[in-house]
Amino acid sequence: MNLMEVKMKFGILGTGIVGRTLAVKLVELGHAVTIGTRSPEKTLAKTEPDRFGGPPFNVWLKQNPKVKLGTFAEAAAQGEVLICATSGLTSLDVLKSAGEANINGKVLMDISNPLDYSKGFLALSVSNTDSLGEQLQRAFPQVKVVKTLNTVNALVMVSPQKLANGDHSIFVSGNDAGAKAAVTEILRSFGWKDVIDLGDISTARAAEMILPIWVNLRSQYKTPWVNIKVVR
Ligand SMILES: NC(=O)c1ccc[n+]([C@@H]2O[C@H](COP(=O)([O-])OP(=O)(O)OC[C@H]3O[C@@H](n4cnc5c(N)ncnc54)[C@H](OP(=O)(O)O)[C@@H]3O)[C@@H](O)[C@H]2O)c1
Repeated sequence: MNLMEVKMKFGILGTGIVGRTLAVKLVELGHAVTIGTRSPEKTLAKTEPDRFGGPPFNVWLKQNPKVKLGTFAEAAAQGEVLICATSGLTSLDVLKSAGEANINGKVLMDISNPLDYSKGFLALSVSNTDSLGEQLQRAFPQVKVVKTLNTVNALVMVSPQKLANGDHSIFVSGNDAGAKAAVTEILRSFGWKDVIDLGDISTARAAEMILPIWVNLRSQYKTPWVNIKVVR
């Protein structure tokens, strides 16, 4: 698949900065995007800025008229490739509400991090011997889960060349070689040059446990635009 040429339908689960940023990039690349939420009515009725000071969703949607809004189930049904961009503790429930008939057999790029704010700053709800990526894969064995992009800030996800001319690394973890190849093409279409296949979905543990060092780097350099470069 050459994503520069093939135009696809994406279903993005999540209306936060990650879902929005990916939606804008995918539309810019010519793809069709439906973004999913629990309740389109409630999401459109919000008037306060988002968590990062961005506009309320309805204002953002007017600025991006090619993006369609639906429920999680509608976004999943529309998408040929799915993106999980929900708050990590809710990812399993969101996929359940999307409905197995709408997600089975599809590639799911899982960007969510298992952050549990109730346990204090930067606690992961699962780590070491398991990961959110694996939990999703176990719960939905017919979905081709590929953990990726969770190790960088939303803007870096779609504009890697803005940092060090794109000379830094991004990871994919998953059980299905074809799904990882498809996701790698998508990442390359975003500008990623160094896409590292870590292995099966159990390697999502490592990708998710990068978060603590990422947060330390962000504090050290006072910018979320930081990333890791793997030197061979
Ligand atoms: N922010 C970043 O730069 C960044 C970087 C790497 C990875 N990540 C990861 O990417 C994911 C998305 O991050 P984000 O900052 O864009 O958004 P977020 O605020 O973490 O999540 C927003 C989405 O989660 C859904 N959600 C929240 N509570 C829910 C619940 N109880 N039940 C069902 N759905 C619920 C919201 O649904 P509604 O639309 O219905 O409100 C919304 O669509 C997170 O897992 C985050 O850790 C973020």
